[in-house]
Formats: sequence, structure tokens, C-alpha cells
Amino acid sequence: MKKAHFNQQLGILGGGQLAQMLCQSAQRFGYQVKVLGKSIEEPAAAVTPHFIEADANNPEHLKKFLQGLDCATFESEFMDAELLAKVSREVKVPIFPRPQHMAKIQDRRTQKELLNIYKIPTATWVTVDTFQDLERAEKDLGFPYVLKTRRFGYDGYGTKVVKNKKQQKKIQEDPWSDSGYIAEKFIPFKREVAIMIARNHNGELAHFPWVESFQKDSRCLWVKGPLKKTPGLSKLRKKLSRFIDDIGYVGVIGIEAFDTGKELCINELAPRVHNSGHYSQDALNESQFDLHIRSIFNLELKDPRILTPGFAMYNLLGSKNGNTMKRQVPAGMNLHWYSKKELRQGRKMGHINAVASSPGKALKLLEAFRKDFEI
Ligand SMILES: Nc1ncnc2c1ncn2[C@@H]1O[C@H](COP(=O)(O)OP(=O)(O)O)[C@@H](O)[C@H]1O
Ligand SMILES: [Mg+2]
Repeated sequence: MKKAHFNQQLGILGGGQLAQMLCQSAQRFGYQVKVLGKSIEEPAAAVTPHFIEADANNPEHLKKFLQGLDCATFESEFMDAELLAKVSREVKVPIFPRPQHMAKIQDRRTQKELLNIYKIPTATWVTVDTFQDLERAEKDLGFPYVLKTRRFGYDGYGTKVVKNKKQQKKIQEDPWSDSGYIAEKFIPFKREVAIMIARNHNGELAHFPWVESFQKDSRCLWVKGPLKKTPGLSKLRKKLSRFIDDIGYVGVIGIEAFDTGKELCINELAPRVHNSGHYSQDALNESQFDLHIRSIFNLELKDPRILTPGFAMYNLLGSKNGNTMKRQVPAGMNLHWYSKKELRQGRKMGHINAVASSPGKALKLLEAFRKDFEI
């Protein structure tokens, strides 16, 4: 007989803010949650007494943590996917999204290959394994092109725009990434857009609205939405749904895309909850964290209801001027603070959500507040 909901145990690999918010959502559903993190100082440790300080890439630690759980998930795709698959089989505890999907998506090259198999548009790209390959990138793509490490890239770390021969030469002086690179055509986008989609074991899907996301220094600063439906966005969403369904994906997936005004192409996928979906905590009837929990435990899934004509999210990044909140959070705005012990410049310390009668108005509210919000 299937175990009662309230006795089921979820394990979360990783202890950062995504794990923290996933943990809170799973707890509301009634699941018991255990978290494996690097240090008790991490955000998720603040929301569960079952925080285990361990190394998820250590087979013994991982085995001990997973044993007896009903299922596990993760907050970052940059883990040893092969090890996860092996230990998961040994202890008979499934991990969702499946490690095989983590493995494909964590490497920008295999991720792009997968998208291309499904005829999902991406920027033209080439593999760069050696310095000589940079010349091939120049020949095939022209300047500027974007050089990206195959693995471990986030918030712009591992991404470089190469504008000319001089910059290309200079790359040879920098340390070469062990995982190799891909180079892709620079896309002169008008805006960046994003969408989250969830899929459960039964193949039910839930779609979030398309949103616009704005990156400053390659790091997400704000998100606003919902975007007006266009034939291009609807068509791309359909293709993405088919792809997710066909590979048997389970969980929430974050998808970033470029919109040039004429064309849409996918930038990257994240097999997990994602910064561009944080608005859902206050603008939808169910958040991305809720839908991820629903998906991995195979609960019913439906498209979430959008509760407002406009919403926005602003990331609160650490500044060099110390940690002072000059003003209290105004009524009508929702602060989500991660309780990180250490403030570093550019570090994501929290985010704030607002709703309004249009996406632009919601963003304006946050921008006005943000001016006084020195962290
Ligand atoms: N091919 C491209 N053309 C133009 N801008 C790009 C391209 N690739 C990345 N960027 C810019 O750099 C940002 C970060 O790149 P991305 O591939 O999303 O890496 P990360 O994993 O660091 O988020 C993007 O959000 C976009 O603003
Ligand atoms: Mg990105």
C-alpha cells in the first residue's frame, strides 16, 4: 500500500536559497524534509532541524543521506550525476529530475545537442576543445561570439563575449577550463524571456506564463510579466512541452530564451526551480516550489492561475556598502530574505515581489523601493 502523504520523506541535495524555499513548500504539503548541505550556515539550515552537513559528491555520505527516503531532489545541476544514479539505484530511492536529465543538461554541449535533436531553436554553436578551435569559432560564427564553459557556469561566470582577434588571443593567456567550451553566435536580442514548465510522473504538465527577465552583468536583476501571448511564444512553448514530455522529464524546468523581435531562440535550460520563477510565490496560486513538489511526488498538476494583471521580482544583491536596509518593506510588497550569514558584493541575498495592474507598474514599484534599499 502506498504510504500516507504525511509519513513520506523528501531529501534535498544542496543547502542554498533554492533548497530553503523548496523545503518550506514541501513542509507545507506535510512532507518530512531532510537537507544535505555543505555548512550549517547555509539558508536551508534555518528552516529545518534535519540539516545534515555532508558532501553530496562523497558516495558514503550520499548513501547514508538517501537511505530510507521516499524521494530526493536537488537545487543545483552541478553534481556528479553518474554517482547520483548509482547510489539512487543501490538504496532504491528515486531522484527527480532524473540524474540522466541532470547529466545532459549540466553540460552546455550535450544540452544544446538535445535541444537540436528536438528542433528547438538555439544560437548556432560549435565545440571548442583547443585554442585552434577558437579560430574555427571565428570562421563559423564571426565576431562577436560568446564563449561558455561547458560546465559549472552560472550568473555569467564562465561566459565571455569575444569581440575581436585581440580578445581571442588573450583567451590563450587565461587558464583553460578542464570541461572545455562551446562558442555560440552572439544574439542581438531585444529582450530576454523565460518560462517554467512542470511535469509529473503521469505526464501531466503545468505551464507558467512567459516573463521578461533582465540581466545586469550577466546576472538576473529583475523579472516582470505576464507577457502578452504571441504566436511565436505559443509555438515555442508547445515545442518545449513536447520535448519535456518526450524525454519523460519529472519536476520543474526553467527555460531562458532570446527574443530578437523577429525570432526566438533558447539560451539555456535549468533542470530545477529557477530565479526567473520566484515571482510565482506571490503572483500565482501555486509557486514553482509547490509545483516542483507536486511533480516529483506525482500529485495532480494543472496550469497555475495568475492572480494579477502584472507582477515583478527584483533580486536583492549584496553591495559593497555593507548591509543596511534603509527602509522597511512597504505594504503590498513581499520580501523573501535568504538569511545568508555572509554578505558579498553581487551575492543574491534575497528577492522582493510586487503585483500591480500591469507588469511595468509592478516593476516601477520595486525600482522605487530598490533605490532606498541598500544592502
Ligand atoms: N549567445 C548570446 N548572445 C547574446 N547574449 C548572450 C548569449 N549568451 C549569453 N548571453 C548573455 O549572458 C547571460 C548569461 O549567459 P547564460 O548562458 O544564461 O549563462 P549563465 O549560466 O551564467 O546564466 C545571458 O542571460 C545573456 O544576457
Ligand atoms: Mg542564464
